[in-house]
Amino acid sequence: MVFSLATLLPWTLPIVVLGAQAPNFKAPSEGPLIASPNFGGPSNSTLPKSPIVPGRAFDRFLQIWFENTDFATASSTTVFRQLAQQGILLNNYFALTHPSEPNYVASVGGDFFGMHDDNLYNIPTNISTIVDLLEAKNVSWAEYQESMPSDGFQGFNFTQQDYVTPSAPPYTYYVRKHNPLIIFDSVASIPSRAARIRNFNDFAADVNASAIPQWAFITPNLVDDAHDTNIDYAAQWIQFWLLPLLNNTDFNDNRTVVMITFDENETMTINNQVLTLLLGGGIPEKLRGTTDSTYYTHYSILSTVQNNWGLGSLGRGDTNATMANVFSFVAEVTGWKNVNVTDNAIPLTNISGPIPGPLNSDVYIPFTAPNVSAVGAGGGKVFVAPNINLNLTAANAPAAVNLTGQGLNVPASGPLNSSATAPAPGSSPTTSGASNLMRMTIKHLSMLTVFVVCNPLLWS
Ligand SMILES: *[C@@H]1O[C@H](CO)[C@@H](O)[C@H](O)[C@H]1NC(C)=O
Ligand SMILES: *[C@@H]1O[C@H](CO)[C@@H](O)[C@H](O)[C@H]1NC(C)=O
Ligand SMILES: *[C@@H]1O[C@H](CO)[C@@H](O)[C@H](O)[C@H]1NC(C)=O
Ligand SMILES: *[C@@H]1O[C@H](CO)[C@@H](O)[C@H](O)[C@H]1NC(C)=O
Ligand SMILES: *[C@@H]1O[C@H](CO)[C@@H](O)[C@H](O)[C@H]1NC(C)=O
Ligand SMILES: *[C@@H]1O[C@H](CO)[C@@H](O)[C@H](O)[C@H]1NC(C)=O
Ligand SMILES: *[C@@H]1O[C@H](CO)[C@@H](O)[C@H](O)[C@H]1NC(C)=O
Ligand SMILES: *[C@@H]1O[C@H](CO)[C@@H](O)[C@H](O)[C@H]1NC(C)=O
Ligand SMILES: *[C@@H]1O[C@H](CO)[C@@H](O)[C@H](O)[C@H]1NC(C)=O
Ligand SMILES: *[C@@H]1O[C@H](CO)[C@@H](O)[C@H](O)[C@H]1NC(C)=O
Ligand SMILES: *[C@@H]1O[C@H](CO)[C@@H](O)[C@H](O)[C@H]1NC(C)=O
Ligand SMILES: *[C@@H]1O[C@H](CO)[C@@H](O)[C@H](O)[C@H]1NC(C)=O
Repeated sequence: MVFSLATLLPWTLPIVVLGAQAPNFKAPSEGPLIASPNFGGPSNSTLPKSPIVPGRAFDRFLQIWFENTDFATASSTTVFRQLAQQGILLNNYFALTHPSEPNYVASVGGDFFGMHDDNLYNIPTNISTIVDLLEAKNVSWAEYQESMPSDGFQGFNFTQQDYVTPSAPPYTYYVRKHNPLIIFDSVASIPSRAARIRNFNDFAADVNASAIPQWAFITPNLVDDAHDTNIDYAAQWIQFWLLPLLNNTDFNDNRTVVMITFDENETMTINNQVLTLLLGGGIPEKLRGTTDSTYYTHYSILSTVQNNWGLGSLGRGDTNATMANVFSFVAEVTGWKNVNVTDNAIPLTNISGPIPGPLNSDVYIPFTAPNVSAVGAGGGKVFVAPNINLNLTAANAPAAVNLTGQGLNVPASGPLNSSATAPAPGSSPTTSGASNLMRMTIKHLSMLTVFVVCNPLLWS
């Protein structure tokens, strides 16, 4: 762990121990396609093989998210340097805020809604995601979450036997905050959609069945994604998991793009640059080993996917011209014109806390409708959920209020104790229900929130 504690917390004494030494890499399985209890609960059959909807620059987009690493750290790590030779290095790509969860949420929903913590949220069904846009064009999709116990699992985290240090107590490998789509009720509350939030045993089964969908969000577990470990551990996981799969045509073919990114950079006092690589057989031969210095953010993931398949948009950050440039190799094929955002025009996206929104209990405004007149890179209409009130726009939303000051939390927040532990053999994992005690101690919850926000060791 290399948090700049001295700069962040000038009032603290010099800190000698910054966290336990990362353990040596332990493969979660005998191979990326060999079923293992460490990959999650048993596979739940495979996804149906869907007809391919041709994209303009690629037919499959697989994104793999790592955690909390500065650009410089990742780009000096051998495996990342070697991978960059096979693809395009994006060296002007920024995360959107801190900590983790708002970055994940924004990458599928086009906004982080003022969120500045890693708490449990259920974003209401009238707030749309990339899933609505993909399904409107029949583009198949899934999420793959390593160490998640069952498909569509909604718990806050999941604890199981520690496979890295078997003598240690049970370990939490899966967390909901890194699973963006389950946080949206427009996905979680529809069983056919929730079933597409799958674990790595399902992933293995889907690859073997040639059924990997056209869009996928892939989250390694808390040790493999560098969150609880470090970049060297994640690099070894890449060698174990990703490198063999890059040679497997059921994962990576000549129309596939595999994106590697990090949720946020680790040093929070400076802007939020993260390493992003575009890999896969879909990267044109002549661009392999090149660097693209266009300004991008996590919203560029949405705009690029929209541009590729001619999708509609969410009418949020995905249509913000400054924040959502389309990856150049795609823009070149489609003729999309990006905006030239030069150094001093790059927005500061390391801010966390004071941004008003429906998930900010200190500066709360309700969820508002998307901007229906926005034009996104896909050219399609802004998606309008059937139950959205289009009159409630950002322009005529009520003034922000401080719910914390009233001892309240935001309506979309859920109980923090919604976790689960490994079930006894033969039983199915359960999530503990809403706890009245937790509901009654909202004030304490808010204090916890403040603590989490202020304590960099807990940021993620
Ligand atoms: C999507 O698939 C359905 C069912 O096969 C079909 O009716 C519909 O026209 C398709 N939509 C598009 C945009 O291709
Ligand atoms: C299988 O999928 C169903 C929903 O389709 C879900 O209820 C069940 O929990 C899943 N089981 C596992 C082991 O993932
Ligand atoms: C996938 O296929 C490989 C090679 O045939 C096999 O070893 C593995 O067990 C299969 N995995 C699953 C989850 O079926
Ligand atoms: C993938 O294929 C390349 C070229 O065919 C080979 O050099 C490399 O060793 C393979 N990697 C793995 C992990 O199998
Ligand atoms: C891409 O792969 C397909 C088969 O998977 C093949 O038919 C096609 O020729 C390949 N295209 C290129 C440009 O290599
Ligand atoms: C975090 O990103 C910024 C770019 O905005 C960069 O200047 C800074 O060096 C990064 N942090 C580190 C320690 O690399
Ligand atoms: C686009 O994002 C920038 C940076 O966050 C912001 O300043 C600007 O107001 C946004 N534009 C619109 C139209 O929302
Ligand atoms: C972007 O703007 C800068 C400064 O105005 C200029 O030097 C640069 O050539 C421009 N780049 C592109 C790709 O237009
Ligand atoms: C979205 O749904 C929630 C919950 O049903 C409702 O309270 C809110 O007013 C709706 N917001 C908009 C913008 O439609
Ligand atoms: C939205 O505004 C229009 C015109 O002012 C009004 O007729 C309609 O009832 C409003 N809809 C909602 C859901 O408030
Ligand atoms: C909101 O209220 C809380 C509790 O009274 C206070 O600590 C916090 O500073 C307030 N936040 C803002 C932005 O006013
Ligand atoms: C898991 O959730 C419980 C609350 O249910 C919480 O106390 C614990 O800190 C969480 N662990 C992780 C690693 O998120």
